[in-house]
Amino acid sequence: MQIKRIGLLTGGGDSPGINAAIRAVVRRAWKEKIEVLGYANGWAGPLEGRARVLDRDSTSGILPIGGTILGSSRTNPFKIDGGPQKIITNLRSAQIDVLIAIGGDDTLGVAHRLAEYDVNVIGIPQTIDNDLALTDYSIGFASALATITDALDKLHTTAHSHHRVLILEVMGRDSGWLGLLGGLAGGADIILIPEIPFSVSAVYHQINERKRRGRHFSIIVISEGASPQELAEPVVQEKEVDPFGHVKLGGIGDALGRALNKFLDLPARVTTLAYLQRGGISDPFDRILATRFGVAAVEFAGDGLFDKMTALQGNDIIPVNLADVLAASPQLIDNKLIELAALFD
Ligand code: F6P
Repeated sequence: MQIKRIGLLTGGGDSPGINAAIRAVVRRAWKEKIEVLGYANGWAGPLEGRARVLDRDSTSGILPIGGTILGSSRTNPFKIDGGPQKIITNLRSAQIDVLIAIGGDDTLGVAHRLAEYDVNVIGIPQTIDNDLALTDYSIGFASALATITDALDKLHTTAHSHHRVLILEVMGRDSGWLGLLGGLAGGADIILIPEIPFSVSAVYHQINERKRRGRHFSIIVISEGASPQELAEPVVQEKEVDPFGHVKLGGIGDALGRALNKFLDLPARVTTLAYLQRGGISDPFDRILATRFGVAAVEFAGDGLFDKMTALQGNDIIPVNLADVLAASPQLIDNKLIELAALFD
């Protein structure tokens, strides 16, 4: 199939590195004389037919810039009356041969469902949570990890001076990739992740055990999706769900701080990193990964490899079935890494 025009969109929570992928798609397509149309604001773009031509000039200088020049949203066309049909009509009238979607499980889930309507889709994995299956890494994870590590380096000096317990809440809805690897890179003493429900009294015991060893400060990293055994439900900011059925997480760090403060001599202090993890410039790993994914996506399109996702496995970029990715996601952190982190308490 001769590809003449590619549609491109970025959906879901943003992260540093997306723009490097957009630039790579445009550059690789340009070599084949393929036009790229960039849709605005995730799935809202093809729904409303809002797009602009992306070329070498309009994507020049975006390599290191965080966020996405296309804008993003959590629009779910399958929750909108006639949504999928509108998208199909708009893609046809714009003569889009292939649609490349950059995002996490929600964005790629929509892409896969559209493939059932004979839309040629290719996904590029992008989520700071790194919870998409069948790829070693997703765009944005490494940059977010660098932000967490930097925060922990800073928290260490003040925790040490004040002999305090400092809690850092990080993102990670279902999986502890950010929490565990961030905690490992930043030398956290206690790491609490969604995969393993924790007990407040065990955390208190660990802090005291450290004191007994002469460590008068403790750094705790906690994922937003971690939950204490003592509570029946996870701590949430808003119970209302987004168009993909997710509640707004956040607040578990404060809840843990309040619970510990009933017993501690010096109050625990809480820092919530929140959107700082999603912002800023991308790190070199993400720039290279995003560039490789963007180039591969255009090449998959040329080879007629549709309903696939670009995946990093080992050092290779390979096509994997979107259906398989979605069936196996969220990808939880493996036990070997959990055991490794447990050595550093
Ligand atoms: O991008 C994924 C994520 O970072 C989750 O860890 C977090 O729960 C969610 O986004 C919050 O995003 P928003 O507030 O934009 O819906």
